[in-house]
Amino acid sequence: MNPARGSLLGIETMEAAEILRLLKFARRMNPDKPRPLLKGKRVLLLFYEASTRTRSSFEIAAKSLGAHTVLIQSAGSSIEKGESLLDTGYTLRAVGADIIVIRHPNAGAPYLMAQHVDVPVINAGDGLHEHPSQALLDAYTILRNKKSFKGLQVAIVGDIFHSRVARSACHLLSKFGVKIILCGPPELVPDIATTLAPGVRVTRHIEDALRGTDVVMLLRVQKERLAGMKIDLPEYIARYQMTPARLKMAKKDAMVMHPGPIIRGLELTSEVADGAQARILEEVHNGVPTRMAILARAMGKMR
Ligand code: NCD
Repeated sequence: MNPARGSLLGIETMEAAEILRLLKFARRMNPDKPRPLLKGKRVLLLFYEASTRTRSSFEIAAKSLGAHTVLIQSAGSSIEKGESLLDTGYTLRAVGADIIVIRHPNAGAPYLMAQHVDVPVINAGDGLHEHPSQALLDAYTILRNKKSFKGLQVAIVGDIFHSRVARSACHLLSKFGVKIILCGPPELVPDIATTLAPGVRVTRHIEDALRGTDVVMLLRVQKERLAGMKIDLPEYIARYQMTPARLKMAKKDAMVMHPGPIIRGLELTSEVADGAQARILEEVHNGVPTRMAILARAMGKMR
């Protein structure tokens, strides 16, 4: 079965023109000037994994469009009792869900839901697969700062192996011809990552990644995700941590991004996190209009 119309499941299969249309529409969205595009609709937020930014910004986005929201987290719901993903989906459809926003530890869970439950499904992060709304809000943030994708070089530094954010970002940026350099130790950035999307290069050297770079995207390096890997955190910090001195190797007007949650003292220093080039909180801020556009599109209201 085809996924329900209006679903947003991944960036890989989205056309560049559709992405631009959505980003353009997002620029017209403003949570401080609510628009009743989803008046009376019900947005179900189904979160099988922890989330702060993604969840709150989908909720604020939905409410800014006049929708009702219901949050279901695995703890405290029938998911804990062993109800299957699809049975949960059918149940949400039966209570009257108009849109389901889902975050799930398994890749493909949102796709399965969209194929079987006749409701548009928005992927809020599925396993190691994709995080399309994050890629869209990052693209929105890049375009607000750099005006166009033309000639841009983006360095993505950190745990790319475990990052759905990196995967969606590579798919999106490569559709616009952006030069993408992935940087980190081989365990976190395997050589095969070059096959992720056209225009992707891998380097082990931070200077190499930063030279000529317009956007420095940092990713979380989470200890719990590194079990069984030979990663020495002090060595990671010594080689890859973003410090003011390293940031100077990038272009003078380079912007620093991070999807969050950031770990100060590991991926970056506080000077960088709070510095003039950081756009980390701007990304969070831009998540709301971007997700307003995503939700309105799900209901066929993107014009
Ligand atoms: C990320 C995620 O959950 O994929 N965060 C986010 O949604 N902004 C990144 C992460 O957890 O490392």
